[in-house]
Amino acid sequence: MATILITGTNRGIGLEFTKQFLQRGDRVIATCRDLAAADALRELQEKFDGLQLLQLDVASTDSMREFVQELDGTAVDVFINNAGVYGPANLKFGEIDGQVWASVLQVNSIAPLILSQMLMPNLRAGKDKKMLYLTSKMGSIADNSGGGSYIYRSSKTALNSAVKSLAIDLASEGFIAAVLHPGWVLTDMGGPNALIDTKTSVAGMMKVIEGLSPERSGNFYNYDGNVIPW
Ligand SMILES: NC(=O)c1ccc[n+]([C@@H]2O[C@H](COP(=O)([O-])OP(=O)(O)OC[C@H]3O[C@@H](n4cnc5c(N)ncnc54)[C@H](OP(=O)(O)O)[C@@H]3O)[C@@H](O)[C@H]2O)c1
Repeated sequence: MATILITGTNRGIGLEFTKQFLQRGDRVIATCRDLAAADALRELQEKFDGLQLLQLDVASTDSMREFVQELDGTAVDVFINNAGVYGPANLKFGEIDGQVWASVLQVNSIAPLILSQMLMPNLRAGKDKKMLYLTSKMGSIADNSGGGSYIYRSSKTALNSAVKSLAIDLASEGFIAAVLHPGWVLTDMGGPNALIDTKTSVAGMMKVIEGLSPERSGNFYNYDGNVIPW
């Protein structure tokens, strides 16, 4: 049994991660912005003893600090940075607003690393020392043949770059860090034309996480285990 910490769990991929880890018998610390509106998580709590719900808004440094204080040194084996935003869709060059861009960077690129720094005592106390970050193939520069999506693409490219450094820097302590592309998934963000459901995406990513070893750290993985070029 491992302790898994997941951000952004009230819907979409984060909710499915929470379900599947609980079904596997793990303990899950699931976070979300608004606990009062987290009906699906409350339902899960009635079925599973191993679910702890905590409030966390990764757009706020104060909220991250309070959350880590509330954890009170609890050991975390696997940390999944799932919370993310797309930002305004279909903005063309000429229409990009700097403040909106900065707010997306805060959630998708900056918060994952700042929160990781704050959580190091918890992660050092954990057994598995695995740190996962939900990115997107849209953050791959090598894969960008379509252009556009300036804000979302750049936020995930920045995340990828930071996690690559983190994987290198923490390797000597036995940490394994990787970025995961969940596929194009049927969620609020993925929309109704997406290609796979959350069950398939999360089951695939859980296999990838399970199979991670120090030699496989610092990579960009698709949910099916294939490596995506940076
Ligand atoms: N769906 C896809 O096709 C796809 C493809 C590639 C990558 N991804 C990535 O996969 C991850 C999950 O995506 P999803 O499809 O499940 O998205 P989603 O359905 O839109 O859910 C996003 C989750 O992130 C949370 N969140 C947003 N801003 C937050 C903040 N400031 N603090 C805390 N939580 C916050 C949301 O909480 P609220 O309900 O409070 O807003 C929600 O729980 C994201 O990082 C996304 O970029 C998704």
